[in-house]
Amino acid sequence: MAKPKLLITRKLPPAIEARAARDYDATFNPSDVVRDGATLAEAAKGHDAVLCAAGDPMGAATINALPAGVKAIATFSVGYDHVDVAAAKARGIIVANTPDVLTDATAEIAMLLVMACMRRAGEGERMVRAHAWAGWAPTQLMGLSVTGKKLGIFGMGRIGRRLADFARGFDMQIHYRDVAALPPELAKGATFHATDDSFLAAIDVLSLNAPGGNATRKWLNAERLAKLRKGAVVVNSGRGTVVDDAALCDALRSGHVAYAGLDVYDGEPRIFPGYHALPNVVLLPHLGSATIETRDAMGHRALDNLDAVFAGQKPRDQVN
Ligand code: DGY
Repeated sequence: MAKPKLLITRKLPPAIEARAARDYDATFNPSDVVRDGATLAEAAKGHDAVLCAAGDPMGAATINALPAGVKAIATFSVGYDHVDVAAAKARGIIVANTPDVLTDATAEIAMLLVMACMRRAGEGERMVRAHAWAGWAPTQLMGLSVTGKKLGIFGMGRIGRRLADFARGFDMQIHYRDVAALPPELAKGATFHATDDSFLAAIDVLSLNAPGGNATRKWLNAERLAKLRKGAVVVNSGRGTVVDDAALCDALRSGHVAYAGLDVYDGEPRIFPGYHALPNVVLLPHLGSATIETRDAMGHRALDNLDAVFAGQKPRDQVN
């Protein structure tokens, strides 16, 4: 039987491309060029499925322009805010993501941002690299102790809960905001807040771990920032769209927010220009899931989902 034809939109780890080449009639993107929606839809001609990635513009226009033969879109990401799942469903196209396998890696980056901000690692690294370090000094780059602080997690899903596990190792007290309280075995003693006001007032460090999309768009706006205590820290390893960037820059400039650590950006790779000039911000290039082990696991999970579709089964991670 002929192998299904698979369009792979981005360059993937070697083991994943090898598996795809073995099991599919796959079209690769060796130069890893990023394509717009119309070009992606054109490239999908003659294919039975698309393996896309975070950042690919798989909105309604792209999906509606996909050729009739496309049965499934597997995204190499847990987030699927870049895929219009309703448009795909309307066309009978299955959409699947890659949950679970990137939970630890993304929570590690969230914890790294907390540490880097509070211990001023970004400023220290920039100083040493610029040959500007004159030596140890009693008052140099004094940050904030992480140990014992109150960590507020906005979005207590898999990644938020894993971050809480890591933070408990630093004796941090965990508070969280989500649509509902978790059962005790998942909350593990974390304090649920039913309102933004009580949540924001209770914490020293805010970590954004909620999914993107309309429900969370610009959730962290000027009004909510003002409800944080003065000198709070904000980190974002979820989605850039959750932050009102102009408001966060204002809060960082005034010192109301002492430090921010960002791994994701609204409209990335474009970064809101205000951040570049601020010393009290750590900026990472969307590294959340970027470990060798995790990216391999994501690729295998995406291919497992496609294998299920072509075996006539419901894929494990179908989201629509
Ligand atoms: C995801 O999987 O949604 C990540 O943001 C990509 O690393």
